[in-house]
Amino acid sequence: MAKKLSKLAICLLILFLIVLGISAVLLWLLIENPLQDVPFTPECLDTNLAERIDCIPDELATEELCHRRQCCWRPQENSSAPSCFFPTNGGYKVTEGPTYADEGFTAKLRRLPSSSLFGYDITDILLTAEYQTTNRFHFKISDPDRKRYEVPHEHVQQLDQKAASNLSYRVEVTNNPFGIKIRRTKNNKVLFDTSIGPLQYAEQYLQLSVQLPSHYVYGFGEHVHQQYLHNMDWKTWPIFTRDAIPNDNMTNLYGAQTFFLCLEDDSGLSFGVFLMNSNAMEVALQPAPAITYRITGGILDFYVFLGNNPEQVVQEYLELIGRPFLPPYWSLGFQLSRRDYGGIEGLASVVTRTRAVRIPYDVQYSDIDYMEEKKDFTYDKENFNGLDQFAEELHRNGQRYIIILNPGISKNLTYGPYERGSRKRVWVSGPTGPIVGEVWPGPAVFPDYTNPQGTQWWVEELVQFHKELNFDGIWIDMNEVSNFLNNDSLCEPNYLNYPSFIPRILDRRLFARTLCMDAEQHWGLHYDVHNLYGYSMTIATAKAMESIFPKKRSFVLTRSTFAGSGKFAAHWLGDNDATWNDLQWSIPSILEFNLFGIPMVGANICGFASNTSEELCRRWMQLGAFYPLSRNHNGPGFVDQDPAAFGVNSVLLNSARYYLNIRYNLLPYLYTLFFRAHTRGDTVARPLVHEFYQDSQTWKIHQQFLWGPGLLITPVLYSGVDRVMAYIPDAVWYGYETNVAISQRKEWMEMVLPRDKIGLHLRGGSIFPTQEPAETTEASRKNPLGFIIALDDKKEAKGELFWDDGETRDTYGKKLYFLAEFNVTRVRQLMEFFKVFFSQLATD
Ligand SMILES: *[C@@H]1O[C@H](CO)[C@@H](O)[C@H](O)[C@H]1NC(C)=O
Ligand SMILES: *[C@@H]1O[C@H](CO)[C@@H](O)[C@H](O)[C@H]1NC(C)=O
Ligand SMILES: *[C@@H]1O[C@H](CO)[C@@H](O)[C@H](O)[C@H]1NC(C)=O
Ligand SMILES: *[C@@H]1O[C@H](CO)[C@@H](O)[C@H](O)[C@H]1NC(C)=O
Ligand SMILES: *[C@@H]1O[C@H](CO)[C@@H](O)[C@H](O)[C@H]1NC(C)=O
Ligand SMILES: *[C@@H]1O[C@H](CO)[C@@H](O)[C@H](O)[C@H]1NC(C)=O
Ligand SMILES: *[C@@H]1O[C@H](CO)[C@@H](O)[C@H](O)[C@H]1NC(C)=O
Repeated sequence: MAKKLSKLAICLLILFLIVLGISAVLLWLLIENPLQDVPFTPECLDTNLAERIDCIPDELATEELCHRRQCCWRPQENSSAPSCFFPTNGGYKVTEGPTYADEGFTAKLRRLPSSSLFGYDITDILLTAEYQTTNRFHFKISDPDRKRYEVPHEHVQQLDQKAASNLSYRVEVTNNPFGIKIRRTKNNKVLFDTSIGPLQYAEQYLQLSVQLPSHYVYGFGEHVHQQYLHNMDWKTWPIFTRDAIPNDNMTNLYGAQTFFLCLEDDSGLSFGVFLMNSNAMEVALQPAPAITYRITGGILDFYVFLGNNPEQVVQEYLELIGRPFLPPYWSLGFQLSRRDYGGIEGLASVVTRTRAVRIPYDVQYSDIDYMEEKKDFTYDKENFNGLDQFAEELHRNGQRYIIILNPGISKNLTYGPYERGSRKRVWVSGPTGPIVGEVWPGPAVFPDYTNPQGTQWWVEELVQFHKELNFDGIWIDMNEVSNFLNNDSLCEPNYLNYPSFIPRILDRRLFARTLCMDAEQHWGLHYDVHNLYGYSMTIATAKAMESIFPKKRSFVLTRSTFAGSGKFAAHWLGDNDATWNDLQWSIPSILEFNLFGIPMVGANICGFASNTSEELCRRWMQLGAFYPLSRNHNGPGFVDQDPAAFGVNSVLLNSARYYLNIRYNLLPYLYTLFFRAHTRGDTVARPLVHEFYQDSQTWKIHQQFLWGPGLLITPVLYSGVDRVMAYIPDAVWYGYETNVAISQRKEWMEMVLPRDKIGLHLRGGSIFPTQEPAETTEASRKNPLGFIIALDDKKEAKGELFWDDGETRDTYGKKLYFLAEFNVTRVRQLMEFFKVFFSQLATD
C-alpha cells in the first residue's frame, strides 16, 4: 500500500513538473513573444542608396517578406543596393545612463518597437565601455539577465581598471535610438558611427552597422581577396572556419579573422576595429562607406585602436591579442614538402638531389604518407623504414624535419592514442557519446583541445612519439575542424544546427564538413567555439613543443587560425592550385595575415593541386624566395616541383638558387623584422601603403610588397610576360644587383624582368644587415656578417640588427641577445667592432 502511494506521489509530482514546465514556457512566450506584433510604423525616408542597410540579407528579397519584417521596400533595378532596408527608426534606446566613471561608462538599453528579422529579440541589454588605453577603446553589449557565451581568449584578459589618460578619442552615445560614435580628438573626425543602422540583438542574431570615414579598408579573413584594398561595392564576406578549396567564390576558408584597418586619409591617420567573437558571422561592405556585422551568437565585443599611421594600428591590435612568436632562425630558411614522396626512397632521393644542386635548403617536411594507415603518432615501418635515421641524417647535415599531425584520431580499439584518450574522455562529444566522423585514417574522433585533459593527452602523445621520431617542428592540418562526413541527416534538426540566420558560408550549413553544432566542448557548444578549434589545437601543440624542447624555440605551422594564433604558430595559405591566379592572390593574403599578427606566412610555392608548369613554378620560386615562410609544397600525384626536378642546368633551378641565396644573405634583416614583430607588433611583409601613405597611389597596390621598410619586391605574376608595370614609391631605390638608383620616383615604370628575374630594390636611407649565405642557416650563421648601405638624398642611412643564437627560448626576455642601431655616420667604427664581436660569437 505504502509502495503504491509513493508511486502515485511520484506520478503526481511528475505531472506537476510537466504542468509547471509548460506554464513556464507559456509565460516565457508571453514575456518574450518571439513574433510579437508590436505597434510599429517604419519610417522609410528616401535614404541615400549607398546607406541602405539590408533587411533581407539571408534570402531572396520579396515585398511580402519585407513587410513581415517591418522594413522598407523600394526595389532598385540598376543598383546592388538592397530593395528591402531598415527604417530610420527602431533598434534600441538608452533607458539608464550613460553612467560615467574615469575608466569608462555603462548604459542600459531597451528594445524599441522595431523591425525584427528572426524573432527572439532580447529586450534589455547592457552597454559597458572602457577607455582602455590612450589609443584603445573597448565596448561590449551583453545580456545582463542571462550570461551569453564569450570568447575565453588565451591572451586578452580583463583589464585592471585604471583610467587611461590623454585619450586620442572621444565617445558619444545617442539615446534614442541608441548609437555610439567615436571621434578622433585631434581633428574631431568621426571614425566609427553606428547610427547608420539599428542595432539588432536577438538570441541567435546580432547586427551592428558602422559608418566609416573612408573607403580604405583592409583586412577580414580568411578569404581569397583578389586585391588588398577592399571593394566596398556591396560585398559580403562570411567568416567561419572551413576546410575548403581557396578559390574566387567569396567563401569562408580555414581561419576566422575579424580585424580590419581603415586608413582615414593621406595624413596616415588610421584606426582598426577588432570584434572579439567566435561565432559564425558575415561582414557586409557597402559604399556608404559602412560595414555591417551579422553574427549568429555570442556578444558584441569591440575594440577600436587609433594610430597615427597603419603600422601603429597593427601594433596596438597585437598588443591586445598577443604579438607573434619569434621564429627559430632555421625556420626562415627554404622548406620543401610534398604529399606522397613514394616512401623513404622517394623522400631521400629528393633530399639528395636538392643538396646536390647546392640550393639553400633548411627544412624537409613529411605529409600524411609517412604515417601508418594515416594515424597520428605512428610512422609506416615498411614504406618509411628508417625514418628515424633519416631525421638524424638531416640533423647531421644541419637541416630540420617537420611532420604533419591532424586532429582526427583513428577510432581503433587497438590504437594506443585512441585508447588513452578514451580513458581520459578527451573527445568532443554529443548526447550519445564521442562524435565519430571520418578523416584520413577512416572513422575518427576529435580531441577537445579546449579541455585541459585534452591538451594534456595531446602533449603526452607528442612527447612519447618524439622519442620514436626526432622531429623539430609540427605542422597541424585539417583543424577547422574538418570531417569528411557531410550529410544533413547526421545532425539533429535543432536550433543550433539549423539557426534561422545562417551567414553566406559555403553550403549554407554550419555543420557542413565539420561537427554538428550541438556537440559539446569544454569552452562551450561547438556552435560557439567552432572557430576556435584550430586556435585551441595550436596552443596545445605549442605546449607540447615546449615540453619536448624546454630550452629551444620550436615551430608550429597551422592551417586554421583565430586572433592571437600568431603568438604560437605560423600559417600557410592552404590547398592552393598551380595557377597564375593563385600565385597572384598569395600577396594580398600574406599582407592580410601580417595585419592579423601572423607574419610568418606563405603560400605553397608552385601550387599544391594540379601539375605545375616550368614557367609558373619558376616565377613562383622567385616570389616564394621572399615569402616570410618560404615553402614549396606539392599535392599527391602531381609532377615533381622541387627545384632540382627541373634539371641541373635549368633556368628555374639557377634562378631559384640565385634568389634563395639573396634571401639567405638578407636573413639577418628578415630576422630583425621578426624581432620587431615579436616585440613591437610590426608587420614583416609590408604593404606599400604602410610606408607611403602620403601617396594615394600606394593605397591599392597588391602586386608589389616590402620586407619591412626597406626592400621592395616586384614579381612577375602573369604568363608570357617579361616586363611589368611597377610602382616606384617616393624614395631613392637602388637595384639590388646593379646598385644603381632608378630615375623614376612616385610614378609607374615598366620594369624589365626576363625569365630569371624578379624585381628587388633597396630603399635609400636603409642599412641592411647581411650574412654570407650557405646551404643551411646552421652553416650561414658561421659566415661573416656585413651590411648593405643604401643612402638617401641626404646621404644618410640607418638600420638595426637583432642577433641571438637563433633558437634559445625567450632570448629577449632573458636579455640573451644583441641589438644594434646603425647610423651611417658611424658605420665604419661599428664594422670594426663587429668583426671582433662576431669572431668571438662564432668561437663561443
Ligand atoms: C536600368 O538600366 C537599363 C539598361 O541599362 C535602362 O534601360 C534603364 O533605364 C535603367 N533604369 C533606371 C531606373 O535607371
Ligand atoms: C597626449 O597625446 C598627444 C598626441 O597623442 C601627445 O602629443 C602628447 O605628448 C600627450 N601628452 C601627454 C601628457 O601624454
Ligand atoms: C569557384 O571558382 C572557381 C574559379 O576560381 C570555379 O572554377 C568554380 O567552379 C567555382 N565553384 C563554385 C562552387 O562556384
Ligand atoms: C586497427 O589498427 C590495427 C593496427 O594498426 C590494424 O591492423 C587494424 O586494421 C585497425 N582496425 C581498424 C578497424 O581500422
Ligand atoms: C545521407 O544519409 C542518408 C541516410 O543515412 C542516406 O540515405 C543518403 O544517401 C546520404 N546522402 C549522402 C549524400 O551521402
Ligand atoms: C600530371 O602529370 C602526370 C605525370 O606527367 C600525368 O600522369 C597526369 O595525367 C597529369 N595530371 C593532369 C591533371 O594533367
Ligand atoms: C645619426 O647621425 C646623425 C648625424 O650625426 C644624427 O643627426 C642623427 O641623430 C643620428 N641618428 C641616430 C639614430 O643616431
